[in-house]
Amino acid sequence: MLDFDYYNPTHIVFGQDRLNELDKLIPETARVMVIFGGQSAKKFGTIDRVKDVLKSREVIEFGGIEPNPQFDTLIRATELAKEKKIDFLLAVGGGSVMDGTKFIALATKTPADEYHNLLSHGFSPVPATDALPLGCIATLPATGSEMNMAGVITFNEQKYPFMSPLVFPKFSLLDPELTLTLPKEQIANGIVDAFIHVLEQYLTVPVNAKIQDRIAEGVLKTLIEDGPATFDDNEDIEARKNFIWSATTALCGSIGSGVPQDWSTHMIGHELTAMYGIAHGRTLAIVLPSLLRERKDKKHAKLLQFAERVWDISEGTEEEKVALAIDKTEAFFNNLEVSTRLSDYGIEEAGIDNVIVNMEKMGLTTLSESGDLTLDIVRKILVAAY
Ligand code: NZQ
Ligand code: ZN
Repeated sequence: MLDFDYYNPTHIVFGQDRLNELDKLIPETARVMVIFGGQSAKKFGTIDRVKDVLKSREVIEFGGIEPNPQFDTLIRATELAKEKKIDFLLAVGGGSVMDGTKFIALATKTPADEYHNLLSHGFSPVPATDALPLGCIATLPATGSEMNMAGVITFNEQKYPFMSPLVFPKFSLLDPELTLTLPKEQIANGIVDAFIHVLEQYLTVPVNAKIQDRIAEGVLKTLIEDGPATFDDNEDIEARKNFIWSATTALCGSIGSGVPQDWSTHMIGHELTAMYGIAHGRTLAIVLPSLLRERKDKKHAKLLQFAERVWDISEGTEEEKVALAIDKTEAFFNNLEVSTRLSDYGIEEAGIDNVIVNMEKMGLTTLSESGDLTLDIVRKILVAAY
């Protein structure tokens, strides 16, 4: 196992009918900005319920955070928060709203002429020394943003990941009932996203990290069981609870501690979202199977472990087991009605060139756990996925 620091201060409040507890979770004297997306949180009544619980406090609303949150919108929220002397942010929504709120938390403590400095630090922490405290009411299980220090912002049609320990949510409320209004396609996106978060921390090279591996395998097996159960039956609340906690566990830092990580699928997928607007989870489903086939020799030992322990494949040669595990993974996505072919998303094959040019511009030229996944390999992966 590699050396690691693991820190995660987020208080998780999990379960049904717990929205009233917001009153205890947010300081009594707080001036709160409630931040939400296009319409779901408003339309399904969550914002009204939140305002009712917080009625003894000063509360202002900021709606309209887009999926793949836009820098300019977040800056408008930041300016309003500064003007109204807001001292607590409450995100009500999916990954986009939670990520956007994290960015606002940092930007409100940053001078206006330095907002852009919060971008472009990638996986290194942003050089900020303060942020507003924030809490989340998570309405879409997928990104893990509710219990991590990461976010992804869109600026000038590029996606910029950012990190800061200052933006760990103080608390996140995970109420399965608030996710019942999700369209099936968002449930599918969330299952795929969570599954691939685990794989990007698990499918590298073995370092004898037994706890991390076994938790990762447990999360993958749970997603294989309870993901489709949730997708098929909106009323199956027990399956949904397990899916929600799988998505949070997938990216709260525990399974990624002390192991090599390979975020190539995400980095390539982000370009497909930025350039062609494909939903995050679907971009990953396009890239991952093709990437695993291209890199199967480098990842052989962990792919074999994945085949045997997650997909329970016991027959055949090692190569056959690995190939079958990748096929089963792809079929798992397809059974959730998520296509794994780039051509199904209305993109010309020539569009692959644009992805390569953009990745070069962003400096994404040496990906993977060993830094040897170059742009010519990215091209091969995307051509094979077309
Ligand atoms: O905007 P509204 O009207 O609320 O609708 C949203 C949105 O259209 C809808 N929705 C959310 N909760 C709902 C609901 N509809 C009905 N009922 C509900 N309960 O779902 C749509 C998608 O929402 P979004 O927040 O964009 O989806 P997701 O949670 O998948 O987040 C995607 C974003 O997270 C980033 C992605 O890059 C993308 O920008 N990621 C963040 C990560 C992190 N912070 O660690 C890691 C991830 O890998 C990912 O990159
Ligand atoms: Zn993701």
